[in-house]
Amino acid sequence: MKPYIYLTRKLPEEAYQKLVGRFDVHMWEREDQAVPHDVLLSQAAKADALLTVVSDPVTQEVFEAGKRLKVVANMAVGYDNIHVDAATEKGVYVCNTPDVLTETTADLTFALLLAAARRVVEAAEFIKDGKWQSWSPFLLAGHDVHHKTIGIAGMGGIGEAVARRAKGFGMEILYHNRSRKPDAEEALGAQYCSFDELVERSDFLVAMTPLTPDTKHLFNADVFKKMKSSAIFINASRGAVADEAALAEALKNREIAGAGLDVFAEEPISADHPLLALENVTALPHIGSATMETRIKMIEICVDNIERVLTGQKPKTLVNT
Ligand code: DGY
Repeated sequence: MKPYIYLTRKLPEEAYQKLVGRFDVHMWEREDQAVPHDVLLSQAAKADALLTVVSDPVTQEVFEAGKRLKVVANMAVGYDNIHVDAATEKGVYVCNTPDVLTETTADLTFALLLAAARRVVEAAEFIKDGKWQSWSPFLLAGHDVHHKTIGIAGMGGIGEAVARRAKGFGMEILYHNRSRKPDAEEALGAQYCSFDELVERSDFLVAMTPLTPDTKHLFNADVFKKMKSSAIFINASRGAVADEAALAEALKNREIAGAGLDVFAEEPISADHPLLALENVTALPHIGSATMETRIKMIEICVDNIERVLTGQKPKTLVNT
């Protein structure tokens, strides 16, 4: 019997062709809807390998159902959607897609920062809605980015890539991280500071930390109160690192000036969510790594990891050792 692979999203033909034939490959075909959890469970029960995406909850139940499961290849660098302890306990490899998306995600993070500061989305809608009647001095005036202070919470690869972009804009770069980054300090002039100092001094406070029990709601009502009232909060990591109810209050009460959000605690976020009703929120549908080039590389890594495990080798980008 050929090993059974279940893909929770439709793959491009080329990637699919790499697996089909040697393996028994099945996939969730609907592009407009995520795989329902009961389908994932019933597929996991038959599967040797799963290719999952960031919005698939790969719960303890999935690992209990997956009696033959050997590998879960998650198409993301983050893997907070996966119950890694349950996987480890069952001897299932969990893999992610690091590195290939670093620069792409940093590009989007910086684009979001610029868009939030300069009201780019609002301005683009304004002109298309036929609202432009005359040039006026403060029409759609935003805030400068250049020479302001950026505070990066979580100086991993993507945080550093954001810092490199900030350097090009002449920004003062502050960061907070579990460990200091002497190379980034030297090359970019980034200054390490405490989390409180980061929050208080930043004009742009950028959440780049992975979601863990320690970082859940790290950005809470207290943090938003300590931020400058002119500051903008940017989140391109995971929605749940911020307390969204507290964020919405802070934005509504103008305790902070704005937010640029690519991620949400629940995805897809519902269109009537209070955050989306605020005009000082620039929101994007979790597109940090969404370029053709990078998504293809991410898929290739997942396919390679699955192939390796199913042919008795160790996967390359393992998160549980
Ligand atoms: C990741 O890789 O973790 C991204 O958020 C997915 O686009």
